[in-house]
Amino acid sequence: MSDLENLRSSLLAEIEGAADEAAIEAVRVSALGKKGSVSELLKTLGGMSAEERQTRGAAINALKTEVAEAINGRKAMLRDAAIEARLKAETIDISLPVRASPAERGRIHPISQIVDEITAIFGDMGFAIAEGPDIETDYYNFTALNFPEGHPAREMHDTFFFQPDDNGERKVLRTHTSPVQIRTMEAQKPPIRIIIPGKTYRQDSDATHSPMFHQVEGLVVDRKSHVGNMRWILEEFCKAFFEVDSVTMRFRPSFFPFTEPSFEVDIQCDRSGPIVKFGEGTDWMEILGCGMVHPNVLRAGGLDPDEFQGFAWGMGLDRIAMLKYGMPDLRDFFNADVRWMNHYGFRPLDMPTLFGGLSA
Ligand code: DAH
Repeated sequence: MSDLENLRSSLLAEIEGAADEAAIEAVRVSALGKKGSVSELLKTLGGMSAEERQTRGAAINALKTEVAEAINGRKAMLRDAAIEARLKAETIDISLPVRASPAERGRIHPISQIVDEITAIFGDMGFAIAEGPDIETDYYNFTALNFPEGHPAREMHDTFFFQPDDNGERKVLRTHTSPVQIRTMEAQKPPIRIIIPGKTYRQDSDATHSPMFHQVEGLVVDRKSHVGNMRWILEEFCKAFFEVDSVTMRFRPSFFPFTEPSFEVDIQCDRSGPIVKFGEGTDWMEILGCGMVHPNVLRAGGLDPDEFQGFAWGMGLDRIAMLKYGMPDLRDFFNADVRWMNHYGFRPLDMPTLFGGLSA
């Protein structure tokens, strides 16, 4: 029986020496597979005498059982060791904070937020958005808006002028969004209900002025639009924008070349605390200019002032953003400081809507 003994010890040594799951599988095939050494021995059982079967046959069967068990045991051990090694190699540091996705990390600039809020409010009232170029002709920025040649109001705007071109025409960086009134009237017939958010430029720089700043303009032209409609629209706007139930507004007579009559509008507020509160208090704050569109402006836009009339307003966006969100220095708006953006910026997926809340 020493052949069985030899086979047994060499198989057990191979099983013991198998270093991974592939190696133990190879040993299994070589011993218990169709043509494996133990399987070949089992095939000899058929040709044995009854007596031989009882002794050698039993020994072969015992060898088979022992080898199979040893293989299974080694297999299970190697499988556990492989899992153990993977767990060690792929450890997860659960103390690391989860990194926010780019959509959550980014911030919307307060100016973009304010434009989105204003768009939501006026969009709800049936207004469309209009835009125009930042580099304007003198005609659209001044002449068509009823600023006579040489009129001092042109100087009051602290305009950035370009060098005259080959035709002697001097382009300007638009000093207000009002030129888009003319461009819109040229392009579409009344009824017109638009707002015009955009960048504007004047030579001015301190804590509350920047050479590039933002305005939103409004224009309504129809056959019968009047000051009463304008007041209602502006009041509804202020209530929605400052998120208060009521506001008191004061319309003071003023002058703009492109409106007649013209008004400056103040809103009642309380400045006694650290932040300005609207809709209460005894202080006034000027927030916009407005008026009935001057007949010359309607004419410049190709409309007959005997047939159409309208009103317009213009408002500085940066200042009302500072007021609404308590930002003390306008220059920070344009410094591209990530820390400032993280503090004052808005989450990109929180789109302002009237039903969901503007600044929620
Ligand atoms: N364009 C004026 C400015 O920049 C603001 C303004 C006032 C616009 C009255 C208007 C308006 O449309 O009617 O100072």
